[in-house]
Amino acid sequence: MDRVVINGGAPLRGEVAVSGAKNAALPIFTATLLAGGEYELSNIPDLQDIRTIALLIEKLGAKVTRTGGSTYTINSENVSNHQAPYDLVRTMRASCLVLGPLTARLGRARVSLPGGCAIGERPIDQHLKGLSALGADIKIDHGYVDIKMEGRFKGASIVMDVITVTGTMNLMMAATLAEGSTVIKNAAKEPEVVALAVFLNDMGAKIDGAGSDTVCIEGVRHLHAANARIIPDRIEAGTFMVASAITGGDVTITGIDPLLVRSLSDKLSQSGCVISELKTGARVKSTGSIRPVDVTTAEYPGFPTDMQAQIMALMTLADGASVITESIFENRFMHVGELRRMGADISVSGATATVRGVSSLSGAPLMATDLRASASLILAGLAAKGETTVSRIYHLDRGYEHIEAKLKRIGASISREKAGKAR
Ligand code: EPZ
Repeated sequence: MDRVVINGGAPLRGEVAVSGAKNAALPIFTATLLAGGEYELSNIPDLQDIRTIALLIEKLGAKVTRTGGSTYTINSENVSNHQAPYDLVRTMRASCLVLGPLTARLGRARVSLPGGCAIGERPIDQHLKGLSALGADIKIDHGYVDIKMEGRFKGASIVMDVITVTGTMNLMMAATLAEGSTVIKNAAKEPEVVALAVFLNDMGAKIDGAGSDTVCIEGVRHLHAANARIIPDRIEAGTFMVASAITGGDVTITGIDPLLVRSLSDKLSQSGCVISELKTGARVKSTGSIRPVDVTTAEYPGFPTDMQAQIMALMTLADGASVITESIFENRFMHVGELRRMGADISVSGATATVRGVSSLSGAPLMATDLRASASLILAGLAAKGETTVSRIYHLDRGYEHIEAKLKRIGASISREKAGKAR
């Protein structure tokens, strides 16, 4: 397994461009199952999860071609297989996003239950409750969700018990081809949900209210292929913003609407950074000190859970104590143990971590446990004294495109080592 080697201490300076958003691209790939035809998707990030979703929709009958660095064409004319196999679904939970489109297109879907993951149990009960409300006959059988449906989905009024991003996406996709209208209340408001709704409307769907807590979908008989340019990745952008702050740097992140990272910008300002919001980006300039800030993760537009591990890395070097509360997932403090091994002073009680800032971190051999935890360890390594190695970086490769190359270009001393290389 590859690892990343970092020699910390260099302030990062310069410009870094944000890639397309993984969590916008994945649902848009599955939306192409809804209607045959040729689609062109651009600004697709070069990530393991993208390769996984491409493989999955190919198994279902689509033809996926990477025509350029970040452009794919998909032809879903011959989608006919309704089965998503366990060996693929278990590697990426977002595979469950095929449930709605497959059932809408074929009247059948047999998809392995995703199972839990490092950060929590992550059930999909809300997905299934909504699909059932829309008329699907759902059975759980040998670890698979087995859906049958005669004819089309029937429009329904659905109130989500929990705000769920992929749950909202799945039901929105299913409802586009329903007979009649559907209202989803307590819907997720993330920009990636809005991006999916825009794409579905370009395919001929009739969706209103995406981005609010009430999404209305008027079902249509048919959809058609469309093209999409994937929106920028606000979590990648946020990760680089923290990279600037934690290294005492001055970095401009380009290619992102600063409003999408406003909740993070506010916290970085409170902690002492000078944030300049630009038309297409944000400049993060450290003032040399890091003040402690309290953070509670929340659904958009609140502070994103996907940035919790990263802001915690910054707070380990603050001149005081910060309280970080993770309110979305039940086990998203896996990075704490590794940060402690670098000298961080963090105590955890339930969903709350108290981070008492220390004057410095020391580099150490670390192990990644999940995608955003691995980003947090990279950030800590950039600021630590001495060498840090982060192993199991396949976690990192799921969600960050060429991160070490991007960091190197703004001054980081970082490299990737192939597994087994003698040191
Ligand atoms: C999406 O996951 C993202 N993934 C996650 O990003 C992100 O952390 C999460 O939303 C929250 O913002 C993708 O978009 C591919 P949820 P999702 O359903 O949709 C509970 C990353 O790092 N829940 O919004 O799976 C669930 O257990 C990943 O890029 C139910 O109880 O998250 C959690 O506590 C990690 N029942 C909460 O809701 C359900 O049916 C929010 O989960 C669904 C969810």
